[in-house]
Parts: sequence; structure tokens; C-alpha cells
Amino acid sequence: MSNIIVLGAQWGDEGKGKVVDLFSSHFDIVARYQGGHNAGHTVYIGEKKYVLKLIPSGILRSGIQAVIGNGVVVDPAALLEEMNTLEQAGIPVRENLFVSSRAHVIFPFHRLVEKMSEARENRIPIGTTSRGIGPAYEDKIGRRGIRIADLLDAEGFRLLYDTLAEDKRMLAATFNIADTIDYADIRDQYEQFAARIAPMVCDTARLLNDAILQGKRVLFEGAQGTMLDIDHGTYPFVTSSSAAAGGACTGTGVPPTRIDGIIGVSKAYITRVGSGPFPSEIMGEAGERIRKAGNEYGAVTGRPRRCGWFDVPLLRYTASVNGFDSLIITKLDVLDELDEIPVCISYRIDGKDTGDMPATFRGMQAIKPVFQSLPGWKTSTRGISNYDALPAAARRYLEFLEQRTSVEVGCVSTGPERTETMVRSGSKLEKLFGS
Ligand code: IMP
Repeated sequence: MSNIIVLGAQWGDEGKGKVVDLFSSHFDIVARYQGGHNAGHTVYIGEKKYVLKLIPSGILRSGIQAVIGNGVVVDPAALLEEMNTLEQAGIPVRENLFVSSRAHVIFPFHRLVEKMSEARENRIPIGTTSRGIGPAYEDKIGRRGIRIADLLDAEGFRLLYDTLAEDKRMLAATFNIADTIDYADIRDQYEQFAARIAPMVCDTARLLNDAILQGKRVLFEGAQGTMLDIDHGTYPFVTSSSAAAGGACTGTGVPPTRIDGIIGVSKAYITRVGSGPFPSEIMGEAGERIRKAGNEYGAVTGRPRRCGWFDVPLLRYTASVNGFDSLIITKLDVLDELDEIPVCISYRIDGKDTGDMPATFRGMQAIKPVFQSLPGWKTSTRGISNYDALPAAARRYLEFLEQRTSVEVGCVSTGPERTETMVRSGSKLEKLFGS
């Protein structure tokens, strides 16, 4: 019985939503382990488009339980809104969704603090999604945060909330910031939210571990991507959670000994939203062409995504910190029209070639990418459902990535539909998913 982590190998938006939705039929439970409603997973089923932000994509499959783990930060207003939208589309959410009692709560003042901090003079902005994610994690690590369990405990909540509010007021006074927040109003609002989310709240670590002991299979769904991980990403241009594979254990309470496989999801090229280093970024018109062909606009914020060529050193780095067993390459079809496709094969820093990822942001910014171009296939790959039926040049491209990254390409996707995906027969991925 396999418990698998599926996560982004780049800067997020790799197409995990589709992948998780597709493979979730092989699992009993899909669990999110970090992030919040900053994530945007787009899933197409027939004519319908679903954008999931906080709720795991597994919710779209009937009979599958979805878990929001303790490592996630939850904005109850966003959760209730997303539940409503899904329920209006006929998806039964309440019966299948479980929210960790140990997950932390996002409050409206977290968003305000973030906006202020991003807009501050002389600050290099991160280009966040402005959902209050970072400040909520700050309160968690600063041991001031409020967890869902405490939100549900009326007396405990008042005590903790009033202390947190006092903390915010003191900070505003110290820094001479006009504080117009109506803390009492927020408290009343959250007391109402508590009643509405209470039926879904439980000890999800226990739920997951019991399920695993009973032989049920869990798919751990990463949000964002490894290069946005708070420790392993392009710090400080990262999100505030542990998006890499290790986060699946701390963010759910399932021990590492229960994990059977780790799958990385990567586009056939690469994108990034927000600021920060991006060695293989394609500037100008060529970048715009990929953006248009791939419809590269943020699912949550609608911001245009920056586009770049596949980056081998980056993928080798994320494969190493995550221990990928297999790679899923998405959006191969976006490259269908190109005469040739450059791939970044190494980094040149201060005149020296390296495959290593620098730790400083200035080091990352100093990277001059070294490219090797591969021939394009100049024919549509849409609708192809068998790896061997791909054009020879497309297979050569994928096999080049495989060789250079030392990770097998176990699955390829050539369109947004569930059906536009091919699992390579004999791959490790096929064995792990049991498909
Ligand atoms: P935050 O997560 O809102 O704090 O934003 C921090 C950085 O992560 C910014 O560069 C965001 O654009 C990026 N980010 C957050 N969530 C996602 C996502 O789901 N996909 C891609 N980038 C994301």
C-alpha cells in the first residue's frame, strides 16, 4: 500500500492540481500539508473549470476524503467561501473534508500587516499573494498564533485572541502606525466562523495514521513548489512554509517511515510569479509567446507569470532535497510550435560553470544560464495518450531532461483534461500509483 507525496519541482503552478485530481482515484485520502489559500490549483473536468485554493484537489473525486493538515494556515472566511462555490457546483464538501485542529488561523490583520510590509519604502518586495500567509506563519513561529482547536474553544479563544490583539496594538503604537482595526468585530466574526467549521475539525494526524494502519492510501499534495520553500527555496523570495517533501510529515503528523514514494511535478518549461531570481527567464517577445501559449496567468491573483526554459541545475537541486522517485512533466504541448527548444544545462557564475545552486540571492541573481538547444517537433501533441506515440523529437527532449536530471520521466501531460495524460509503462511512477 503506497502513501505518496506529490509536489512542485519548480516555483509552483506546475500543474499539480490536475495531477492530484487524476491520480486521486488510486487513493482514499488526499492531504494538504502547508500553505493556505495562496495556492491555486486549476482542474478541468469536461467543460467545467475548478480553481481550488485551500481545499485539496482530491475533493473533486467522489468517495475521497480531503484533509487540511496542521501545517496549513486557514483563513476561515476563504475556506467557507471555497466550500460554498464547490457545493454550488454539486461537489459534496462537508462529508469529505477534515480540517486539522492544530492548523493555524489567518486573521484580517495578517493581510494588513503584509500589505504594509510589502509596500514599505526601501523594502525589496517579495511579490506575495497578499493573503496574510507570511504574517500568520510569523505568529505561529512566534508562539502567538491561534490554532483551529483554540478558535473552537470559546473561552480559550477570547483569552488568546485578546492577547494577540493587544500584541498587534502595542506594535502599532511602538511604530507609530495608525491602528484602525476593529478587533472586537473580528473576534465576533471569527466566533461565528468557528460554529460553521466545527463539524469538519478533528485530529487529522490521528485520522491519517489510523487510516494508514487500516491499509488506506494517502496522497500528500504539496502547494507552491520547492523553490518557494522557506528553507530550500530562493530565500527571501519564497513563501513562508515547508513546501518541500519533508513538510509533508511535519505538516500532517504522518511519520517519514510511512511514506512510500515522492513524485515531482515540473512543466516542460518553467514559470514563476512574484519577484526573485529566475536564471532561465525568457525576456521580451519569446517569453510573451510562451505565456500566451501556456495561458500563464496566476490562478489566485491573475498576475502574468514569468516564463523560462527548463532549468536542469534547478531540477537536480529540487530532486536532491526532495528525493524524487519520478517526474511528471506537464504542458509539453505548449512547446509544440517551436523550431528549437533551449534548455539551461548549467550556471555560469563569475565566469565559472557550475551545477550548484547558490545560497545567496545575489549569487542567484549573478547566474548566467548556459543553454543547449534541442530540435522542436513542430506538430501537435494534444490528445496523444501513449508515450510511444509522441513525436520522436518530443521523446528525445523528455529523455534529455531525464538523463540530465537523473530522475525518470514517469508521466507526461499534453493538455488540461484528465484524459490528456500518459503514464509511461514500466516506470517507477506506474508501480507507485498502481495504475
Ligand atoms: P505568499 O505565499 O503569498 O507569501 O507569496 C510568496 C511568494 O510565493 C510570491 O512570490 C508568490 O507569488 C509565490 N506563491 C505563493 N503561492 C503560490 C502558488 O500557488 N503558485 C506560485 N507562486 C506562489
